[in-house]
Amino acid sequence: MTLTALPCHAKLLKHAQSMRKVHMRELFKNDQQRFEHHSLQAPHIFIDYSKNRITEKTLDLLFQLADQAKLSEQKQALFGGRSYLGEAINNTENRPALHTALRQPLHDRSNDIHLDNLNITDEIRACHQQMEQFLSKVHSHAYIGARGKPLTTLVSIGIGGSFLGPKMVTDALQAYAIEGFQCYYVANIDSTDLQQTLAKIDPASTLFLIQSKSFTTLETLENATAVTDYLRGLGYSENDIAQHLAAVTSNKAEALKLGIDPERIFPMWDWVGGRYSLWSAIGLPIAFKIGMTHFKALLAGAYDMDQHFYHAPLAENAPVLLGLIGLWYHNYFAAMTHAILPYDQRLITFPDHLQQLDMESNGKHVSRSGEVLTYTTGPIIWGGIGCNGQHAYHQLLHQGSHLIPCDFIVCTHNAYPIGNHQAHLFSNCLSQSRALMEGKTKHEAYEELRAQGLSEAEAQRLSPHKENNGNQPSNTLVMDNLTPQALGALTALYEHKTFVQSAVWGINPFDQWGVELGKVLGKEIFQATQATDLAESVDSSTRGLLDLYRNAI
Ligand code: F6P
Repeated sequence: MTLTALPCHAKLLKHAQSMRKVHMRELFKNDQQRFEHHSLQAPHIFIDYSKNRITEKTLDLLFQLADQAKLSEQKQALFGGRSYLGEAINNTENRPALHTALRQPLHDRSNDIHLDNLNITDEIRACHQQMEQFLSKVHSHAYIGARGKPLTTLVSIGIGGSFLGPKMVTDALQAYAIEGFQCYYVANIDSTDLQQTLAKIDPASTLFLIQSKSFTTLETLENATAVTDYLRGLGYSENDIAQHLAAVTSNKAEALKLGIDPERIFPMWDWVGGRYSLWSAIGLPIAFKIGMTHFKALLAGAYDMDQHFYHAPLAENAPVLLGLIGLWYHNYFAAMTHAILPYDQRLITFPDHLQQLDMESNGKHVSRSGEVLTYTTGPIIWGGIGCNGQHAYHQLLHQGSHLIPCDFIVCTHNAYPIGNHQAHLFSNCLSQSRALMEGKTKHEAYEELRAQGLSEAEAQRLSPHKENNGNQPSNTLVMDNLTPQALGALTALYEHKTFVQSAVWGINPFDQWGVELGKVLGKEIFQATQATDLAESVDSSTRGLLDLYRNAI
């Protein structure tokens, strides 16, 4: 079923009309316990969703909508790797999406998941064992490179989900890093990325990890080949090179062709989507950097959130609440973007990871059954480090003309404390969500200016410029500290939020056919940069720009 076909949709449209003029100031004034009524403790994360343009009626209608969209049935299909509506949950690729299986406790055999008579939990166990054995060798300096040095640097070569998730986690959990081990990432086909990384490392102590589920991704394969050429250029034999290579992939045959030792090829499976793969061996850079114990703690935190999502009733379910409230603004208030504002330097790349997670999942214009949708899905996810944004783009949040729901993410503690920094950071976060909610009326601005001694005329002239409408919604997510468990829970929270929205929109969040067209055209244009001509049918802009390139080189 699509959103507009759900009986509650019309009721929500009507209710949204009546909510348009309601200001959150009034909602807080009318309910002195609004914070208590609209906040909850989810695993590892406290969530305040009181600064939203919602009432009990809004939530009630949204929960009915979720029921009508069969959210619960879809969730069960997701977790169990079972079919939904008689087909795989990822119905265009005919696969389950079982990233949640990757974080289940492995000691408990009663929950093992079987797919086509294969115990996939056993596969995960074997993968952990392979990772553990490999890393214990690395971390004990027993893994020696071709030039006799222990391998203490890892360069991860991968893109999309084979890059963003691990990068986000290793950035965030730097405080847990094992001393003496460095991790770098190369994603871009822009050679600057690889060259600048090579300039930082000592090849003799570096392991190059090729991360690609498909092992067909152009950027990754070109960078992997460039690395082997680079090592060859340094006089490494083919055997030497092999000692400095490892891979994570579901396409073992292609990895073997690159000369990678089968012992150092870690598995990936088609039932794990790229943007959900940091929990698999694609998370090897994470475990390399912070150790297997902390990697498992990350998985455990995500599992806690999985359990919460699976069992908590709708009204107390964090991913459900965040998903439905987001959908409320997107479909009933035409809010086209959603800002992720971590007040935590450690989460610097968290918005990047969420961009892929959310936009690659929910950027779809047809339903599960291929019907063209008459409503939009997938808000544009953007954001950045909150405090820095205050002195840049927050102006548009405060006084611009867009409705932009925001998620503020903050910790009460920091891994690197200095004096009052954390208190200032926390205050900045709260002041922003409060200012966005309350705003400042023209009259208040006028009174303030008069109190500062300005003339009536001057106060009249300036007050419209100082008016903030407020009523900008936000959620505030508070963690005690950014531990591996908390980060695991936070990441899983957004995965499930994305799923909740897809379920109500009636779309498949687990495929990404849209990116294929660019890949195909990229090959054709590349050929034309080398030798051949473009087909007659190619547009004049592409042709003109290509000529410009060819004439310039
Ligand atoms: O191009 C999009 C995409 O397919 C993503 O979904 C994926 O995370 C990324 O490319 C990398 O894919 P692979 O791991 O197969 O190299």
